[in-house]
This record gives sequence, C-alpha cells and structure tokens, in this order.
Amino acid sequence: MRPVKLALLGCGTVGSEVVRLLHEQAPDLTARIGAELELAGIAVRRPGRKRGSLPVDESLFTTDALGLIKRDDVDVVVEVVGGVEPARSWLVEALRAGKSVVTANKALLAEDGATLHEAAAEGAADLYYEASVAGAIPLLRPLRESLHGDRVTRVTGIVNGTTNYILSSMDASGAGFDEALEKAGELGYAEADPTADVEGFDAAAKAAILASLAFHTRVTAADVFREGMTAVTAGDMASARRMGCTIKLLCIAERGPDARGRESVGVRVHPAMIPRTHPLAAVQDAFNAVFVEAEAAGQLMFYGQGAGGTPTASAVLGDIVAAARNKLTGTRAPGENAYAHLPIRSIGEV
Ligand code: HSE
Repeated sequence: MRPVKLALLGCGTVGSEVVRLLHEQAPDLTARIGAELELAGIAVRRPGRKRGSLPVDESLFTTDALGLIKRDDVDVVVEVVGGVEPARSWLVEALRAGKSVVTANKALLAEDGATLHEAAAEGAADLYYEASVAGAIPLLRPLRESLHGDRVTRVTGIVNGTTNYILSSMDASGAGFDEALEKAGELGYAEADPTADVEGFDAAAKAAILASLAFHTRVTAADVFREGMTAVTAGDMASARRMGCTIKLLCIAERGPDARGRESVGVRVHPAMIPRTHPLAAVQDAFNAVFVEAEAAGQLMFYGQGAGGTPTASAVLGDIVAAARNKLTGTRAPGENAYAHLPIRSIGEV
C-alpha cells in the first residue's frame, strides 16, 4: 500500500508536536490506518530556524506553502499556522483540488468556515477541524456526527483556558484581576498581549464554530454577543461566593424563539455567575469544558485540556488518521450540514 502523504503548514508549538507524535507513534498509526503516513514537506516562514531535535530531515522544510500544497503526491494538508490569510487561500486551493484538509485554525473557521465547506464540497474533499475548539477535547466530532440523531438545545462552555485560570485563581485566593493575570503570565498561560483572551474574542470565535455545528447553521464570530472579563473584581467574586456561586467566562449558544417567535439561535460570551453545584463550576485552572443539552441525550459534559502543543496535536493527529482512512476507503467526512439555516438573533432581542 502506498503511503498517505502529508503537507504540514506551520511548525510552531502545535506543528512540532504533530511531527514528534507522527514519528513516535508511526508503527501504531500505520497499523490503525493500514498504510504509512509520510511527511511530504513542512512549510515554514524561516526554514533555517533551530527546531530542537525534531525527528525530520531538514530537506523537508520549504517556504513555498502553495507549491507544497499543489504537489500531485500530497493527499492531506495539515494547517497549524492560524489567522485568516493566507491560510484561507491555501486551504481553498487544497480542497478544490480534492485534497483532505486538517486544520486547527479557529479564526478562519469562525470568520469564513462557509467558504472552506463550499470548497470541500466542490472538491469532494474532507475538512476536519477538531483542534480548533477546546484543544484535546473530542467535541466537534460528537457534534458533527454522534448527536445527529438528536436535537441540541443549548451548548454552554468554558472554552478559554487563560481566563478560566484567572477566574479560578481569583476565586481560590481572593486575588484581583491584575494580580491573577500577572500570575497567569508567569505560568505561561497568558500571552504577552492577552487581549483576545480577556476580552472574549478567542471564546467568541470558538462559540461561533460550536454553534454552527450544534445547530446546523452558519454563525460567524461577528454574530456573537461578546463581553470580556476584565471588569470582574475580587469583590464580585466574594459576592458570588456568598451566594453559593462562582464566576466563569461562558460561551452560551442556544436555540429558541426570537422576538417574533421564529425559531432562531442566540450566541453570547460573557462572565456569568453559576451555582457551585453546576458541573462547570468545578472546572479549575486552564482546563476547558463544554456542557451540551440535547432533547434525547439530556445533559452531556466534555472536559479536558483546551490548549497547549501536545494536547492540541492529539486532536490534529486524530483528524489526520480519519482523513487518511477516508482516502484509503473512498469515504468522506460529514459535510457542512447547514440545512437548517436558522436565523441568528441579536442578544438585545431576547
Ligand atoms: N489562548 C487560548 C486559551 C489558547 O487560553 O484557551 C487555546 O485556544
């Protein structure tokens, strides 16, 4: 059996872990897929940069991402670069040419997932993106596949590890926001510029992806009502505690009637007080969790590490295995499933 060839776009924190896991788990992966996985090339901005002891031949590195994608022998394109462009142009090119795409790119999916799904339909190609929301937690595939016999009514999630670390730390120690943010930076959770996390932009992008899959409709980050958590004070947290509650930055996506009674979807991200008895209240440190409510299944909870190179690479590897298997068996990932086209209601309407 000929190997399934991969083009890796990006070799930073997640990409280098993908390379390491592909190497370390090669015998198991070959046995599971029924063919070897082979790296055809790795597109990076600076090929000469020191990348520690990555188990790959230096000759695989290239700056020509598009040239790599267009190679006839490439079966699966794995994108871990992030950002909307040039990732969108690369992935559309790959999908239209019938190549499977595995991506961790939440910004792109939240802004223009529809274009990727359309390109996948045009090229009869696979599009997988489990790593784009909540890192290692298997979450999108259950929403895309396992729950398709059911009707999801609400998705409530803690999908940003940095802010959950800050709020957990404020709750546990009585610290204020600035002190907790500084500690999050020291421990490597918060970025040098934590705006996307603390202002809720990161959670809003993930909420858009979750809502699109849960409700079979198209939600973009711009549709999500967003309020960050920088205004939460030590006093707010103490008041919440006295009421038997804690404060979490939640993403909430729910189905329900709009002001005119039409079936619609509302999606929002904001700090919320939740009872300590709620399963999401137990989610500490930088962990993520998503609580799904569906008519037949009832309540489901997905919990785990939502960030970090190795956990995120686990989700990427799972998608690579699925895409490789599909290539060999001639099957395909589920399509967009945007058959409901529910209107998105503005949060001010309800
Ligand atoms: N900054 C994000 C977080 C990284 O803190 O959850 C994972 O998307």
